[in-house]
Amino acid sequence: MNFDLTQEHKLIKQTARDFAQNELLPKVLERDENKIWPADAIKKMGELGFMGMMASPDYNGGGMDAISYVIAMEEIAKVDAAASVVMSVNNSLVCSLLEKYGNSFQKEKYLSKLAKGKLLGAFSLSEPQSGSDASNMLTFARKTENGYLLSGTKNWVTNGKNSDVVLVAALTEKDVGHKGISCFIVEKGFNGFSVGKPEKKLGIKSSDTTELYFDNVEIPKENLIGNEGDGFKICLGTLDGGRIGIAAQALGIAQASLEAAINYSKERKQFNKPISSFQAIQFKLTDMSIAIESARLLTIKAAWLKDNGLNYGVEAAMAKLHASEVAMKASTECVQIHGGYGYIRDYGVERLMRDAKITQIYEGTSEVQRVVIARSLLK
Ligand code: CAA
Repeated sequence: MNFDLTQEHKLIKQTARDFAQNELLPKVLERDENKIWPADAIKKMGELGFMGMMASPDYNGGGMDAISYVIAMEEIAKVDAAASVVMSVNNSLVCSLLEKYGNSFQKEKYLSKLAKGKLLGAFSLSEPQSGSDASNMLTFARKTENGYLLSGTKNWVTNGKNSDVVLVAALTEKDVGHKGISCFIVEKGFNGFSVGKPEKKLGIKSSDTTELYFDNVEIPKENLIGNEGDGFKICLGTLDGGRIGIAAQALGIAQASLEAAINYSKERKQFNKPISSFQAIQFKLTDMSIAIESARLLTIKAAWLKDNGLNYGVEAAMAKLHASEVAMKASTECVQIHGGYGYIRDYGVERLMRDAKITQIYEGTSEVQRVVIARSLLK
């Protein structure tokens, strides 16, 4: 067993860190405050190869391992969690889905542009009535001579407004449960496809989250991914990998919280001493640091299993569950250590707490991760 990062991993970490410091940090609070989409940063991420890190070089991807992806995600999320979710969805939900389940036509036409950041992707599974119970969908794709006519509404779609291509799960057969679900590639320009207003969110405010509406959208038959009826397994299989990305995002938020808390506690004086000299603060920092390291190890382990072609769904659920809970706890403690200064916006640490919350919700709530883990224990 070897816990060292390879030279390549170290280089990726440094590149991601430099990018985050130089391109994301300067205006991160302004973007959060005013809900400004990080257009330039997303473009730059594409140029640096961060938008399709694990995709095959045959389709303009970076051909990197999942550990590299975790490392880059953590560094970027540490500075700007909103930008990191844009990256995460494009990498581990959109590019990974197309890489694994798409055919060569779909990879050539879409993946090769998505992996390079020339197009941006979104993934849409949830609907107003179906979140955790993901197969309970109503969006329907009716078969026609040349393809399908898609109708329905999708909810909570990250990148919903700014994406060029959306992967959509829809029923192609009713009353057969998840076996009636299929997965399609839908382009923004297709007739009948429209985007709802941006959701007003607690955190990750500069990322975009919208509803999507499909009103008899004509989908060519070559845009069906895999076979009819494969869609649910494609989506859940893809979310296993997505959860590693969200675990890494949570890690970044948690690490940022720890670093901000350490820095502030060394500067802030009360009772004529830096507050870092009080055990009450030291114990908080210690607990944060152990929790973060354990979350990091779980996340890297899930990525390692994926890289080695082993089953990783349960470990990805563990990593996402633990890292997101650690992010929530660490960011809350960070605000607590900052006291009144933590509660106002100027220090930017309340943003960490607001951003952490979503990591316990999207790509499967903490409760869903517990279901996945419990099922594996009791099977
Ligand atoms: N990979 C592949 N197939 C899987 C799978 C996996 N991880 N998990 C289950 N399946 C298969 C099962 O084998 C089963 O197939 P068979 O019937 O052929 O055996 C089928 O899928 C149905 O499985 P279940 O009966 O276990 O399904 P369920 O309805 O009980 O649901 C669940 C299980 C774990 C709750 C699942 O629905 C789930 O993960 N829900 C959460 C959905 C989610 O994560 N949504 C996030 C939305 S996307 C998002 O947030 C994106 C964004 O923009 C950031």
